Amino acid sequence: MHLALIGTGRIGRYHAALLTSTPGVTAITVADVDQPRAAAVAADLGIEAAASVTAAITAADAVVIAAATDAHADLIMESTAAGKPTFCEKPIALDLASTRTVVDHVTATGATVHMGFQRRFDPGYRAARQLVATGELGTIYVIRMVGHDPQPPHEAYIPVSGGLFRDFGVHDFDAIRYVTGDEVVEVYADGAVLGFPVFATYGDIDTGVAILTLGSGARALLSSTRHNPHGYDIRMELFGSGDSAVVGWDERTPLRSLEPGGPQLPADPYPDFQARFRTAYQRELAAFVEVAAGDRPSPCTVVDALEALRIAVACDRSRAEHRPVRLEEVA
Ligand SMILES: NC(=O)c1ccc[n+]([C@@H]2O[C@H](COP(=O)([O-])OP(=O)(O)OC[C@H]3O[C@@H](n4cnc5c(N)ncnc54)[C@H](O)[C@@H]3O)[C@@H](O)[C@H]2O)c1
Repeated sequence: MHLALIGTGRIGRYHAALLTSTPGVTAITVADVDQPRAAAVAADLGIEAAASVTAAITAADAVVIAAATDAHADLIMESTAAGKPTFCEKPIALDLASTRTVVDHVTATGATVHMGFQRRFDPGYRAARQLVATGELGTIYVIRMVGHDPQPPHEAYIPVSGGLFRDFGVHDFDAIRYVTGDEVVEVYADGAVLGFPVFATYGDIDTGVAILTLGSGARALLSSTRHNPHGYDIRMELFGSGDSAVVGWDERTPLRSLEPGGPQLPADPYPDFQARFRTAYQRELAAFVEVAAGDRPSPCTVVDALEALRIAVACDRSRAEHRPVRLEEVA
């Protein structure tokens, strides 16, 4: 299968490298509005660079969009209008109106779109989903989610990121839906600028918390931070009537025990999302090749992306208005 990869920035070049060893991929053509950047990635990997985004899409059997967020909606439209099965990195857009326009278009045309929430392919999150689905976890009491980035992004990223909940928390919001098969019905969120005053300049926060109420009545808690001195810490702890278990706790988790003789900081803690989720990204792209070949349905649809965004929007509203927000308020 000949893939076009659009956008050769941080995640684009990472995906391009993974695609060179993805089963079923026979050719990769990269494109970027920054043509020299695409050419450099192509030269590094020994693949083709197209003269334009449209040329890359036209030539390919299927399209992987890894461009900047504000280009996603238009690129999904262009790719699906050309009849190409399309993978797109999260999110569709940062606002509900643009997201819904794309969802309506994809739904009406029956186009194939696979959204890039890679945790759905992480072995730990998949095991958590199994634990819930088989009933082994029993009645879910509480799920605790940790999303702690090692370093804040550079300043230019902050005003275009959508803020902590839409940019970063959205992965946890997708994960809670994926793992539980349940919907979030209410949120109560708060946050503060505690370490990096630059976030306040843009009305954003560097530390956020949220209580999510699921349809079952179970509660989930999220803590989300832009800085963690020891590395990239992503966990989901599940507590039910039948089991207590955790995703993201292994020999590289950047956490130390204060108990005498307890585990100390690992020598090689996860430094970033690329290291932590490498297997997930590999499996996600392999799954997309199967989706594009028509062998399986999209495992993460545009509707899933819309639902995760709605939870993030509810968290923003809750924090701004200092009150619980029902999801039905977020139309
Ligand atoms: N799933 C994940 O874990 C994950 C991780 C990182 C980034 N992302 C998402 O991936 C996307 C890219 O993030 P990044 O960190 O690589 O950004 P980046 O700024 O490093 O790269 C973006 C690239 O897109 C290019 N671009 C912009 N508009 C374009 C257009 N219309 N057509 C073609 N190329 C265009 C830019 O020139 C740049 O090279 C974002 O939407 C981000 O949310 C997802």
